[in-house]
Amino acid sequence: MAEQPVTIKTNPGGPFMVSGEFTLHDTEGNSVKHSGRAALCRCGASAKKPLCDGAHGRIGFEKE
Ligand code: FES
Repeated sequence: MAEQPVTIKTNPGGPFMVSGEFTLHDTEGNSVKHSGRAALCRCGASAKKPLCDGAHGRIGFEKE
């Protein structure tokens, strides 16, 4: 089966949406394999970094 290419889409005022099969390495040395979609925090306010927890909406993050 062919590998799915990883794509990253920027959402204005929201997270990076990553699709495909990839491994996410966090700052504590943990690695988690993902398959499908994941939302990565771009605003810096998430309590679940590197994943988005919706905090961008509460803080009014507006970056393009
Ligand atoms: S982008 Fe969603 S919490 Fe930061």
